[in-house]
Amino acid sequence: MAEGEQGLNSHYAVHWQEEEFYYPRPEFIGQANCTDPDIFERFSLDNFPECFKEFGDLLDWDQYWHTTLDTSEAPVWKWFVGGMLNAAYNCVDRHLAKYKNKTAIHFVPELEEEPIIHMTYQELYRRVNETAAVLQDFCGLKAGDRVTLYLPMTPELPITMLACARLGVIHCQVFAGFSGKACGDRIWDSESEVLITMDAYYRSGKLLNHKANSDEAVAAAEKQGQKVKKVLVWRRYPGKYSSSTDMVEGRDFFADELMQKYKNAVIPPASMPAEGILFLMYTSGSTGRPKGCQHSIGGYLSYVTWMSKYVQDIHPEDVYWCMADIGWITGHSFIVYGPLALGASTVIYEGVPTYPDPGRCWRIAEELDVNIFHTSPTAIRALRKVGGDEPAKYNYYFKHMTTVGEPIEPEVWRWYYEVVGRGKAVVVDTWWQTETGGFLCSTLPALQPMKPGSAGPGLPGIHPIVYDDDGNEIPPGAGKAGNLCVKNPWPGAFQTIWKDKERYIKSYYGKYCKNPQSTDWRDWPYMAGDAAVMAEDGYVRILGRIDDVINVSGHRLGTKEIESAALSAVEVAEAAVVAVPDEIKGTVPDLYVSLKPGYEATTELAKKVSEAVADVLGKIAKPGHVYIVPDMPKTRSGKIMRRILASISSYNDVGDVTTLANPEVVEEIRHMVQG
Ligand code: PRX
Repeated sequence: MAEGEQGLNSHYAVHWQEEEFYYPRPEFIGQANCTDPDIFERFSLDNFPECFKEFGDLLDWDQYWHTTLDTSEAPVWKWFVGGMLNAAYNCVDRHLAKYKNKTAIHFVPELEEEPIIHMTYQELYRRVNETAAVLQDFCGLKAGDRVTLYLPMTPELPITMLACARLGVIHCQVFAGFSGKACGDRIWDSESEVLITMDAYYRSGKLLNHKANSDEAVAAAEKQGQKVKKVLVWRRYPGKYSSSTDMVEGRDFFADELMQKYKNAVIPPASMPAEGILFLMYTSGSTGRPKGCQHSIGGYLSYVTWMSKYVQDIHPEDVYWCMADIGWITGHSFIVYGPLALGASTVIYEGVPTYPDPGRCWRIAEELDVNIFHTSPTAIRALRKVGGDEPAKYNYYFKHMTTVGEPIEPEVWRWYYEVVGRGKAVVVDTWWQTETGGFLCSTLPALQPMKPGSAGPGLPGIHPIVYDDDGNEIPPGAGKAGNLCVKNPWPGAFQTIWKDKERYIKSYYGKYCKNPQSTDWRDWPYMAGDAAVMAEDGYVRILGRIDDVINVSGHRLGTKEIESAALSAVEVAEAAVVAVPDEIKGTVPDLYVSLKPGYEATTELAKKVSEAVADVLGKIAKPGHVYIVPDMPKTRSGKIMRRILASISSYNDVGDVTTLANPEVVEEIRHMVQG
């Protein structure tokens, strides 16, 4: 199905489970940032869009805005128009008067023998300025230029992001676990002439040569015609890993060496329009090409700051740890921009949560006095599986915990609440997306009870609605699944897809737009691409994606991207990917391939195809299984029936196959997969 024309899959049957509620404890409510029950009234649609003034007011502005929301180019929304500000100033400079000696970033290396770094706001200020000086003077970057970052989880990542923001340069961070080729595609799409990377980093106790991946990224970008003029390489281990022989003369430079020339440089923060671009974050959609989600400076920053304050309940004295990777939107919004805009102390952990043992996370929490903890169901499932009794061995206290990125099974939720949170911490299940900048549905922790397995209702100012395929509202409590949409725009919403406004409109607004000529926001509900059920009390239960996107460990992968990666193996004639439930990762991709004539199905070849996918996209996309089939099940018009393959992989009934062009192949494949 083409993007923007998605339909609800018939397999979203709704199995009602008994609903249970958990209530926040008085100790939490007593200290919470938001305890005002009138807040929802204040943010009713009658007060839209002016209610969002309170979001903008959390920031310092060089010039205040004159128009809260400009809809003249609907559905391209412009927030806080006329306002001028700088994101780095808001995340760093403005805290110096009060907090210059306070820790901004606690950096925890994966190797426990390496010391934890506690970087103060003053130190962060110095390093952001020096980096900005290098980007400006040495690289010649200026406001509006794009620069690709391909950095692992070290302080250099937020420092480089903030240095870009200081200059008004648009950063495009690519998850370090992605392959060089995937990074190259993003360098090309964003037309970045500068790549900023790192020599090496540890993952599961292994030192990875990241410079080699970066060279691949440059080669892949240049193959598509995008010249990379400069590569800045931060050294995690100067002298130990990277030698100058790996460096391409005139192109590659050690970032830490360049900084020496700009010691204590001060670069004034560029005064940027609110609707200027802060960053691009690529994500997967229905087609093979990743989408560069374009986020604004004023709207985005105000949104994540408000969410950090009232949903994450961050106070300046809290130690806040979000375990996501900064290469994904969760890390951008809830490790870097939101917490730093509030002057909080944010933890960056370099490594794997269970390395070197299942107690690692809880040791970090104990050592740093973390009291707000934020992670994904995949991590929770893994921690529960490998060390269900570990949390009890450590001395920490969480007041607040978050789950994000995938549906969480009520049973896993209860372990998180009882064992990790010791029945004391409030839990928020936050539903949102790369496109939305920040949370859309969640409970407000001091005001609304938790319901395991459901994200909360719409947050203040967010008015969700569930539509059926014909555009009729499915009323809350109807017990029927539909397409989850939001009636109104909000400041954190992405502005467009980079260089592809048409795809933006079609994918997110095409299906339910009431009048394509309209500049009235009421005519443009946002379609998220998730199937969901809304209970009578407004809580939403997310059932999964309605498009060709698979959510693996809370990360989005496009089936088309995986299929085209599989086709990079010369032997492969056709490829089809299906999502299969997985105990830890939520879902994993199973890959079915058929071969070109003359090739033989062997286990080595299956392995080779699997490696080819990892090579093109990164390890995260590696299929759970690769099945080499004699032929794909096809309709008479030649369309591959992925639904049938999905049923086989999940051990479900394949249904009626008699209308296929080749029904006999179904039994053969079933036998191959299920034995
Ligand atoms: O399907 C929903 C799922 O993750 C998708 C968004 O993925 P991404 O853009 O990578 O952003 C992840 C971090 C927000 C959504 O369309 N999703 C996200 N949060 C939840 C969720 N599914 C269920 N419950 C959630 N809390």
